[in-house]
Amino acid sequence: MQTVTVGPREIREAVTMREAIDAVRAGFIDLAAGEFEMPTRTALRDGRFLVMSAHHRASASAMIKTLSLNFDRVPAIAGTVVWTETGRVDSLVADAGAVTTLRTGAAVGVATDLLAPANAGRLTLIGAGGQAADQVRAVHTVRPLRELTVVDTGSHRAEVLAEQLAPELSGVQIRTATDTEAAVGDAEIVCCATPATSPLFPEQALPAQVHVNAIGAFRPTMRELPDELLANSTVIIDELEAILEESGEILHALKAGAITQDDLTELGTALTAPQAPRGERTVFKTVGVAMQDWAIARLLADKFLPRT
Ligand SMILES: NC(=O)c1ccc[n+]([C@@H]2O[C@H](COP(=O)([O-])OP(=O)(O)OC[C@H]3O[C@@H](n4cnc5c(N)ncnc54)[C@H](O)[C@@H]3O)[C@@H](O)[C@H]2O)c1
Repeated sequence: MQTVTVGPREIREAVTMREAIDAVRAGFIDLAAGEFEMPTRTALRDGRFLVMSAHHRASASAMIKTLSLNFDRVPAIAGTVVWTETGRVDSLVADAGAVTTLRTGAAVGVATDLLAPANAGRLTLIGAGGQAADQVRAVHTVRPLRELTVVDTGSHRAEVLAEQLAPELSGVQIRTATDTEAAVGDAEIVCCATPATSPLFPEQALPAQVHVNAIGAFRPTMRELPDELLANSTVIIDELEAILEESGEILHALKAGAITQDDLTELGTALTAPQAPRGERTVFKTVGVAMQDWAIARLLADKFLPRT
């Protein structure tokens, strides 16, 4: 019996964004089909510590993740992913920071592939922190980028990210910006990845056709998107129970009467039974669910655990 430990560099080298997207897409389909036992996550100290778990019935495998979050720290997210299966005695422990950025990017990749126009190639990313690079990599995997604009309120963060990504994005025109409203004005895809507590831009700042991904808000007190955008878009979410527990912008829009629960479609359902779009704007709102971590941990277990 052994416990195999996998660090951030090994995770990045072992799993490509394409593999992560495919694994997370399959996970969302299984989630919608009721294949997972997945309790709502435990949030301690108002979300400073999170505990998440998922059990996949068909493979009799389970994942438990613990996280600590501190947005005054770099990286903001740290912790551990543990993978176990009833069929084997070996288990795997993986760095939760790397798994989280990869699986959060992967979910955005799945949603963008489903929802963004086929020729969309102009991305505006708001928030150049720990999640940002994998947001860009995921979108670039499903919609090869022509232009990338990075916006961040923190000093030099956008520039540092632009420099980091440049070698991976040859041929892509990359610029940084400070005016968020202007930066989303001609975007074809927008990714929001901030811990903001009020909307990052007004609805009218967006073009008529755009796909928006919002990963940042994971507590009822946090919001990145305005009610009006949610009211006038096709809104796809990761999982209803988690969203109703944690998504500040969805809870705000529901309370304001801008949307009803019937306006929300889970990604796994949308993948298997595409919905008639409401207008030309689409939104993917994710708070992040344990199935996504399970999907990446399963890839790691296949690669790192001894075969039985
Ligand atoms: N949905 C999910 O599955 C998921 C997964 C991981 C992280 N998150 C959330 O995503 C958010 C970002 O995470 P991170 O690890 O990148 O955090 P981070 O602290 O590393 O980066 C956040 C960045 O956003 C910038 N920022 C803050 N407010 C801004 C604003 N109004 N406009 C532009 N930029 C702004 C900050 O300067 C910083 O660079 C957090 O709220 C985190 O909890 C969600």
